[in-house]
Amino acid sequence: MNHPYGENRWEKIAVRIEPTAASCAEEAAREIAELIRAHDDQDLPTVLGLATGSTPRGVYRALVRKHREEGLSFRNVVTFNLDEYYPLPPGAAQSYHRYMWDHLFSHIDIDPANVHLPQGDGPLEGVAEACREYERQIEEAGGIDLQLLGIGRTGHIGFNEPGSQVKSRTRLITLDYVTRSDAAADWGGLHRVPTRAVTMGIRTILGARHILLLALGEHKAPVVREAVEGPVSDQIPASFLQGHEKTTFLLDPGAARDLTRVRTPWLLGPLADQGLAWDERRIAGAVLWLAEKTGKAILKLTDEDYNVEGLQELLATVGGAYDLNLKGFYRLQNAITGWPGGRNDGSRPKPLRGGAAHVFPKRILVFSPHPDDDVISMGGTLARLADQGHEIHVAYQVSGSGAVSEEMWERYWDFAESIHGELLAPPNEAEVRRQRGLIRRLEATAAARICGIPAERLHFLDLPFYEKRGAADRMVGADDLAIVTELLERIAPHQIYAAGDLNDPHGTHRLCLEAVQAAFRTVSAAPARATWAGECEVWLYRGAWGEWALPEIEMAVPLSPGEVLRKRRAIFQHETQKDQALFLGDDRREFWQRAEARNKANAEAFNRLGLAEYEAIETFSRW
Ligand code: F6R
Repeated sequence: MNHPYGENRWEKIAVRIEPTAASCAEEAAREIAELIRAHDDQDLPTVLGLATGSTPRGVYRALVRKHREEGLSFRNVVTFNLDEYYPLPPGAAQSYHRYMWDHLFSHIDIDPANVHLPQGDGPLEGVAEACREYERQIEEAGGIDLQLLGIGRTGHIGFNEPGSQVKSRTRLITLDYVTRSDAAADWGGLHRVPTRAVTMGIRTILGARHILLLALGEHKAPVVREAVEGPVSDQIPASFLQGHEKTTFLLDPGAARDLTRVRTPWLLGPLADQGLAWDERRIAGAVLWLAEKTGKAILKLTDEDYNVEGLQELLATVGGAYDLNLKGFYRLQNAITGWPGGRNDGSRPKPLRGGAAHVFPKRILVFSPHPDDDVISMGGTLARLADQGHEIHVAYQVSGSGAVSEEMWERYWDFAESIHGELLAPPNEAEVRRQRGLIRRLEATAAARICGIPAERLHFLDLPFYEKRGAADRMVGADDLAIVTELLERIAPHQIYAAGDLNDPHGTHRLCLEAVQAAFRTVSAAPARATWAGECEVWLYRGAWGEWALPEIEMAVPLSPGEVLRKRRAIFQHETQKDQALFLGDDRREFWQRAEARNKANAEAFNRLGLAEYEAIETFSRW
């Protein structure tokens, strides 16, 4: 059936899901370039509405490439940016003026007179007039042909936070707490992020002839779903786009993850019609979803439950409730193990494992993106593996220096001065940064010790991509890959654990996983050099920012009450990340509280579904 806007009856906005974040950026750049060329052919200017933030970086990179390699010219392009912090001079490092010149304008042939951004400086009394002038300029340019948007986790577009009215125009607004905490890392702390900004209004944005909203990463998935499938509401300003004639959401799989068509495609009709099949994972997913939905233990689901909740097709293709229930049940049951590294006496049926299942004890390499992800995400499993006699190495991928507050560093500096008994010459910026990284190393070492891992098995990689923070692009480079590859070859692990936590708001985890996967592919491609790689199994954990959905869980490690406390003690070693942590996001609970709540919620879900009752569970999925 055709639907006026979306792909199906759930989606009220056209949505396109691309295979990767990079292809989203390419697609957006392609559309922009096509528009510019089409207008050029007719001697018309092209008026672009532009966004800042992490999302459009790839688009700007692709546009710069098209300019350099394909002769795409911006001579006839006029731009209007969505927003700017207030008060902030255009030259400030965090200003969107600066962002736009760094990422795009300096690298293309645009006429500076054609560039417009809301004014972030000037006296408060002048702001309202400057905003009206901005609207006038947009009108004078003939309106916006194509508006590029990102979406905030509050559902904001531009800086139109919840409560913004559909009639709003360019104006001064107060930023939401979530928005400010998302920006905290760029500003060196939440308290430094301005509380206000000037933004185009909802009406201004809806005035664009074509709107392209990009969303990347799982942390955007919930708000994308609300904007696309939920009611139009000023609580999710992006939902106003449902009323726009020509809006497309361009999503990567992470951002699309909560859409009905992705999460529960059977609710859209027969899977075959959607080009999908009832494979084992999807069957288990449907059974677990049904159990959660009905509030029943898996083995108590009946044919009627399947029929009533829209799973007739599954019932008909696979068989009755009895068989289906067992499929769902064993999916979880087989995942449970107290021996994540395998067992040494072969007495117990092991869950499906890679070729190194027989090796005991194992060499295990745990990749921790930041210095605290290992214990936050799998502290219990780490301790268990160590207690069970495995040789565990932990590789801390980035220094984490950016998340040590000024106050914390000063405290350590005071300590150093009091040890020396004199005032020390103030260090330069690079040295302070190094020292901040050092502070985190000490914390990681203390935490690992609690899990039973000695300091000599810790590897601090300080991947260079992270140190380029603030630079125009943060990408995994050859230097990062070389470091990870060397470590893999040196340790030759039987088992790897890495963060599959792709929804951290700052993208570091995504890059860290990319580095591990690329390095692993490199060593696997040279089997003569790395015979171990073919046998090595790679487990992905989640931690600070999210949890695997039940059907994704392929290993579940139960924790006893004592292990939960030990894990908490390990997380406590990361003092710099307590209270004032720069990366806490909108969730005001501390990391240890979140980790415990999540591990407990896993245990409760298993219990509810009719499996054994544990105190807490850490979960893993296979790469
Ligand atoms: C940026 C803007 C914001 C961002 C949004 C998403 O000019 O107006 O609406 O698009 O906050 O930010 P990122 O892309 O950093 O997640």
